[in-house]
Amino acid sequence: MHFSRIASTLLLAAGAAAHSTMSLGAVGPNNAVLFLNGFHFISGNEGKQLQADHYCALISNDFIQCTIYEPGANPEKLMGVEYIISGDRFAKLPDEEKQLWHSHQYEVKSGLLTQPGLPPMIDHPIMEILVNTYGKTFHTWPSSSMKNDIPIGIPELIFGYTGVTNPDDDFVKSRDEFYGTNTTLIKEQREDIVDPPVIPGADSWKYGYSLQLALSNTTKPNADAAACDKEEGEKEKRDCVNGFMRVDKRGVSHC
Ligand SMILES: *[C@@H]1O[C@H](CO)[C@@H](O)[C@H](O)[C@H]1NC(C)=O
Ligand SMILES: *[C@@H]1O[C@H](CO)[C@@H](O)[C@H](O)[C@H]1NC(C)=O
Repeated sequence: MHFSRIASTLLLAAGAAAHSTMSLGAVGPNNAVLFLNGFHFISGNEGKQLQADHYCALISNDFIQCTIYEPGANPEKLMGVEYIISGDRFAKLPDEEKQLWHSHQYEVKSGLLTQPGLPPMIDHPIMEILVNTYGKTFHTWPSSSMKNDIPIGIPELIFGYTGVTNPDDDFVKSRDEFYGTNTTLIKEQREDIVDPPVIPGADSWKYGYSLQLALSNTTKPNADAAACDKEEGEKEKRDCVNGFMRVDKRGVSHC
């Protein structure tokens, strides 16, 4: 697995000589060189489909990091992040960590994952590499508030399609119209790409349970510090700020 080959392929696309070299993550805003458009759904809510633009920086030979935006608006809404690793790296993860990651085999083979504007001679070698990668995605803009002008709520764990479910045909069609892509044609052009079997543990939703984030809210022992401040003098206030416990004449603890 050599993500540096993605860099050299993109360099070719930019018209540079074949023997030129490009150091990883060397160009573009925030070093993003790879642009991917695809589809996501919310873990635990397979019907909640989203289209996602990924702007990715090649960090090392087995690690890519992407910022994710919702296409359509200008500027686009910043939706989340995706980390991408090679199959080799994924295989070595602990079992519980694996369950947060999704496979890319089907996304590549189905043509759902695209590089809008790039010809097959550039797309094909890059997809040959991405087909054996795994992504971990969190959307910081919750899907339930995509229509809001600010993100409301907490981040969500996201998964990619595997063919067990698919984004709606109309949703894919609207992507194709927006970017001038042809998902059917792209799928045909990638027919010869060999997709290795998905490593067990990825796409954990398929095992019949749903992982999702929750906000924890822990009451601190000195949570009544504010009430204490009101009643007590300056000395006590300082103690409250410092988090000291104090027992009053009636045996009641403060701060
Ligand atoms: C997309 O590609 C397919 C397969 O080559 C072709 O049959 C179809 O007409 C194309 N669709 C459009 C809208 O160009
Ligand atoms: C956290 O708990 C406190 C104390 O019960 C409550 O006042 C606060 O609204 C809670 N915050 C959230 C975000 O649930």
